[in-house]
Amino acid sequence: MGTIKVRWLGHSAFHFQGTKSVWVDPFLTGNPKAPIATKDVTAADLVLVTHSHEDHLGDACEIARKTGATLVSTHEIAVRAAEQGVKKSEGMNIGGTITANGVKVNMVLALHSTGYGDATGLIFEMDGKTIYHTGDTGLFSDMKLYAEFFKVDLLCLPIGDRYTMGPPSAAKAVEFVKPKKVIPMHFDTWPIIGQDPKKFRDLVGNRAQVIILAPGETAEI
Ligand code: NI
Ligand code: MN
Repeated sequence: MGTIKVRWLGHSAFHFQGTKSVWVDPFLTGNPKAPIATKDVTAADLVLVTHSHEDHLGDACEIARKTGATLVSTHEIAVRAAEQGVKKSEGMNIGGTITANGVKVNMVLALHSTGYGDATGLIFEMDGKTIYHTGDTGLFSDMKLYAEFFKVDLLCLPIGDRYTMGPPSAAKAVEFVKPKKVIPMHFDTWPIIGQDPKKFRDLVGNRAQVIILAPGETAEI
């Protein structure tokens, strides 16, 4: 049971530093809120990608290529990543579980469109902690099922509305998943998904600890 440092890189991009270095949806180039550029990423063990929209797939292939990290995503994204020179590319699909570089990754549903491959959520387990990054999604009641299978320590949840859940449905998702902590994401990247995260925190109330980060800030779980 170790401590994991969670750094929000704006939008849905995160860096999780535990015994492994895990990057999720590393959209840095073109992300106006990103505190770092791809050239600043010097080490990675795992790059996880929820779906093929550019604001999620982002710089995943470049990071995997330059660091030698394993890229994990849907079959379709993994195949394209391999074609683009990613040496270690692991494809999977919804309902499946793999262990990559010592990190267990479960792929789950997301209710969202995408370019190729399905839109997914990813629940990964590292250092005795369980982290659920939902990707882009609307609310769906099967999230209740995930609470039966996983004791989620941290939920990364979109609140920006328009393309994903907004604060009221995101607060309902917290009720379904029952995480210990929540970090809101996918808001304020552009004015079109502007949102006050405090409104979300008020709606969650005492059901979970809502951690509001500014892009570049780090929390510990
Ligand atoms: Ni999307
Ligand atoms: Mn998105």
